[in-house]
Amino acid sequence: MTEVLRVDLTNPDPDIIARAAACLRRGGLVAFPTETVYGLGVHALDSAAVLNLFAAKERPANDPLIVHVTSVDDLALLVAEVPATARELAARFWPGPLTIVMRRSAAVPDAVTAGLATVAIRVPSHPVARALIAAARIPVAAPSANLFSRPSPTAAAHVMADLGGRIDMILDAGPTHVGVESTVVDVSQDPPVILRPGVIGFDLLRTVMPHVGVLSDQPAEVAMPSPGLLTRHYSPHTPLLLYEGSRAASLALMERDARHSIDEGKRVVVLAFAEDIERVEPWAAQVVRLGNEANSAEVAARLYAALREADACRGDVILMRTLTSTDALGIAIGDRLRRAAAGRVVRE
Ligand code: TXA
Ligand code: MG
Repeated sequence: MTEVLRVDLTNPDPDIIARAAACLRRGGLVAFPTETVYGLGVHALDSAAVLNLFAAKERPANDPLIVHVTSVDDLALLVAEVPATARELAARFWPGPLTIVMRRSAAVPDAVTAGLATVAIRVPSHPVARALIAAARIPVAAPSANLFSRPSPTAAAHVMADLGGRIDMILDAGPTHVGVESTVVDVSQDPPVILRPGVIGFDLLRTVMPHVGVLSDQPAEVAMPSPGLLTRHYSPHTPLLLYEGSRAASLALMERDARHSIDEGKRVVVLAFAEDIERVEPWAAQVVRLGNEANSAEVAARLYAALREADACRGDVILMRTLTSTDALGIAIGDRLRRAAAGRVVRE
């Protein structure tokens, strides 16, 4: 049985938080909201509990977890040393949607780091996440609370759909705010490297780390520097075809392919920006709204819910085009969509 407990977003009920914290301390699995997506929390220093978490998510053991703590002071137990760069990043961006990879200490179980010499750490800003970790008084390892390779959950209902019956508790504080996962930056290497783009973007990180690099967009199977960065990830069950390039060219190619699919008797679902709805309605069997393309924050917050809705339409194929925006969220969304499309990308 999975218990779902409603909590207030800004002022969570201390009794509910205490129950969830006790569950974590006992080795239980508790899903909770963060500012990015819902996480599935577990006692980070309890190897047996961590193995249960991998089983519940059907996550491969070679994909390491992020450890969540309440402040930079909690790093001492978990890392070998705190590099000066990490201190600067923490001062500037924590609490918030930034994960920092550092050399780990012996206290962190191999199950958490997938045997790597490094550990990923983040201090979330969501009041419920902060209250829970503080009450538990332990570091909390938490991947996104979805089944492996499914879209990350941005609402408690998404967690329930994937993990209901497999985990102990879900703290429901409504939809998450950012919508895409934290930026991951590895400072254990010099120069530091951004392993996963997020709302804290390259330009902002460069103000603290002028030499920071970006993991190249080569097929992740080749190098696998961060085992979680598999190409197939965040995917709906229905095949997703992604169109990259200008708006006009992408819409023209989408219409061509849609009409071809319809001729073959297929049902075409379109994930459309508000600006494109009228343009795609004549040939889409079903249209799922993504928000305004001009507002990448709105698109990010809707992205994973929209992917799940498009999947629920039970079409034969989902078509969508990427944002043309190159701000931090535009880049992060493009990265997640390429993974969701699992290589099915059409360019003009
Ligand atoms: O926003 C987020 O980061 C959410 C919330 C719940 O905090 N968490 C999340 O966790 O997205 P997960 O497990 O879905 O993604 C963690 C990513 C993976 O790509 C993983 O490979 C990478 O972080 N990672 C974890 N530890 C690492 C390490 N030691 N070295 C390199 N990459 C690491
Ligand atoms: Mg994930």
